[in-house]
Amino acid sequence: MQNRILTHIKQLVNVRYDSHPLYGSEISVLPCLEDAWLLIEGDEIAGFGKMEDIKKEVRKLPEDQTDCSGRLVLPCWCDSHSHLVYAGSRENEFADKIRGISYSEINARGGGILDTVRQTTDIPEDELFRVSWNRLEEVAATGTGAIEIKSGYGLSVETELKMLRVIRRLKEKSVVEIKSTFLGAHTYPLVYRENHTAYIRTIIDEMLPVIANEKLADYIDVFCETGFFNPEETETIVRAGQKFGLKPKLHVNQLNSIGGIETGIKLNALSMDHLETLPSAEIDRIKNSGWKGFCTLLPTAAFFLRLSYPPARQLLDGGCAITLASDYNPGSSPSGNMNTVIALACIQMKLLPEEAVNAATINGAYAMDLGNSHGSVTKGKRANLIITQPVPSLAYLPYRFGSNLIDKVILRGRFIA
Ligand code: NIG
Ligand code: FE
Repeated sequence: MQNRILTHIKQLVNVRYDSHPLYGSEISVLPCLEDAWLLIEGDEIAGFGKMEDIKKEVRKLPEDQTDCSGRLVLPCWCDSHSHLVYAGSRENEFADKIRGISYSEINARGGGILDTVRQTTDIPEDELFRVSWNRLEEVAATGTGAIEIKSGYGLSVETELKMLRVIRRLKEKSVVEIKSTFLGAHTYPLVYRENHTAYIRTIIDEMLPVIANEKLADYIDVFCETGFFNPEETETIVRAGQKFGLKPKLHVNQLNSIGGIETGIKLNALSMDHLETLPSAEIDRIKNSGWKGFCTLLPTAAFFLRLSYPPARQLLDGGCAITLASDYNPGSSPSGNMNTVIALACIQMKLLPEEAVNAATINGAYAMDLGNSHGSVTKGKRANLIITQPVPSLAYLPYRFGSNLIDKVILRGRFIA
């Protein structure tokens, strides 16, 4: 077993002796140790403490030592919402959006998601794996140690399964921890535009049984939105997925408020994601419902589509658990860089740096059922760690948005970058 030690860490961030999801104001407390050491045994965090106690607490120092003077060490980002398996790109519609055409209009005329569906249908599985692998390597180098990845650019039995098989190959090969979500209900394929019932039957009768049989997904997602899936359709699809053991993580209230929140509460979703359009009555409804899931906020998607940002502060004031995620996808967030996500959350959503880091680590981990093994510096958790460049403080990271301040990344106890 390979052992290594990080020494003279200026600040060891998100140190927790026991871990649980953070609701409401709990998220403002980010426990840190100054002038610290951290011991890694194999792929786990074996211990940590103050430098002044290192001789007393570490019987035999491993040969592999990394001096982290001036640097912060953080748990890796846990990105609980992404669509990073897809083919091609959509910079043509990026220009259309600048000219004033809306995201909904682009989708309605058969572009948008359907454009990526065409490209993802046409690409061979090995090539889809290769381009997705490159994106995964890219986000790992920017500090992502665990990520949820959705299907949803297939919309046919064959291509949805191809996407989920690619996600499974990524899971098997990568040191990044991956969770897989079936999003067959991302939009209606053109052939089913006038026959929603038939497409929903395809999802339920033809896709879900194979997915369950081959254990290709952990979660089920639906894009509950005007022009996509209404709340009743969402419920039908999610209930069918739940019969196969898939928990719901839902796209709700991105562009319109159409009852997605009520549906997510009723279905006891693990997370409700987006929430850019969230009237205060619905914030109250979440607050008073007793629902204990996560509100996943995606600031780079709001930025890219020029939407209003989700009301993070009101959700926290209402006692909710929020997470931050990238939404990495070709249409609304063609970047999976969680450092940008955190910077935007601070700059535009007025989260404090400590709150943003908790949302992107410990709460992100719980929003993927990985809270027991990821998301904090805790003995026995996976040694997934970010070592920053020398920086004056934690707040310096989002403050210097756009600069790469990550020097090294350790995943499963090994340096990957
Ligand atoms: O989360 N809103 C639905 N799905 C993605 C965007 C998909 C696309 O435009 O390709 C999202 O923003
Ligand atoms: Fe999304």
